[in-house]
Amino acid sequence: MKKILKNVRGTKDILPDESYKWQHIEQRVRKIFEVYNYKEMRTPIFEETELFARGIGELTDIVSKEMYTFFDKGGTSLTLKPEMTASVMRAYLQHEVNKQIPLFKVYYISPMFRQERPQAGRLRQFHQIGAEAIGSPNSEVDAEIIALALHIIENFDIKNYTLKLNSVGCQNCRPAYKEVLREYLRKFYDLLSEDSKNRVERNPLRVLDSKDEKDKAVVENAPLIYEYLCGNCAEHFEELKGILDAIGIKYELDPFLVRGLDYYTKTAFEIISPDLGSQDAIAGGGRYDLLSKELGGPEVPGVGFALGIERMMLILEKNAYNFGEVSKPFVYVAYLGSNLRNFALNIVFSLRKKMIPCEMELLNRSLKSQMREADRQGVRFVVIIGEDELRNNKCTIRDMKSGEQFGVELSQILEFITSRYAQEASTN
Ligand code: HAM
Repeated sequence: MKKILKNVRGTKDILPDESYKWQHIEQRVRKIFEVYNYKEMRTPIFEETELFARGIGELTDIVSKEMYTFFDKGGTSLTLKPEMTASVMRAYLQHEVNKQIPLFKVYYISPMFRQERPQAGRLRQFHQIGAEAIGSPNSEVDAEIIALALHIIENFDIKNYTLKLNSVGCQNCRPAYKEVLREYLRKFYDLLSEDSKNRVERNPLRVLDSKDEKDKAVVENAPLIYEYLCGNCAEHFEELKGILDAIGIKYELDPFLVRGLDYYTKTAFEIISPDLGSQDAIAGGGRYDLLSKELGGPEVPGVGFALGIERMMLILEKNAYNFGEVSKPFVYVAYLGSNLRNFALNIVFSLRKKMIPCEMELLNRSLKSQMREADRQGVRFVVIIGEDELRNNKCTIRDMKSGEQFGVELSQILEFITSRYAQEASTN
């Protein structure tokens, strides 16, 4: 016997009893993006590795440890996208969008790939809902992105969350802060975790958001970036906080919030939920005013966010969120005897042409089994066609909700079902 293969660790099959929940989320989210005037954008699943190395940063965990990278037959190094922002910016620059559209507002719903250690809420293929606004340096766009991310979360009745906000400065002020921080961390070098020891010289900011208790104790008294922000960054940060206050968005300042991607400048934020385990970020984002230059383009400011669908799903399941129902056929056509098959098929295809969801018996089962199947599928009506009925030019239609049965002329079947379907549609 041949072995049945399984999906790869850290990936997940989404079967129909779950896919309708994904569709529900996606439909609602698309509507919200429309309301905020964001258009959908799709980019390839893989890109040249260099895009992510330059865009996200060689020193990040994502680039140095987590990417699915392979060589194609032509010897080009390719990588399955670990995130979308670099791809969106690449496409923006490649298609010279800046010459046509002053502020490019796009959204995406897409799988991403990172070779992390799988655990609850952390997969190797996961899915993000995200948005990017490219072309404006203004803090109101940061506010719009944050408002949009929160709108999505609240639209699914998630109330238990915290918005964490920080400014990570820019190329003018961050280097000086990094140096001060490095000096501070050097003093406590022996107390740091191994990971953080490695980061002190290379990327000291990452020590700030370490989850290790030893690091946290050191970081507690570290110098804060706020004292080192340049005038421009400080002003932008004050403006953003002012706008969030004005539109009633609550946030918690977190000077230790450093995101795992190097392209951020100024605003960085995360939305975390106590309903998630150690992977508590539902969404994260921020401003990336230098990414375009890093990718060889002109200076183009941008800001965006991405939300992890699997993580949101965990919260929704926990909250017993109502996803609606799996779609089901309205009609099941049951028949007995192979000589009635074509008659049944004709009915089914006529109903389908009228866009009435229907199913018919495709396994030659007994009438009893067919009725059981119709019940299992939750249909509203079963059309039963048998020799006797046909001889009388009639069929039986059973209302599975009320249990009533009707004798209906064959020529009237379509009429009967169509009118019931219209009635049902008008009451829903
Ligand atoms: P990120 O924080 O790396 O940001 O990912 C955003 C969200 O994706 C996380 O908050 C989390 O919900 C989800 N996520 C990340 N990794 C995993 C994983 N291994 N398994 C399940 N879910 C995961 C970005 O990707 C940026 N591109 C966001 C952004 C857009 N910044 C500006 N624009």
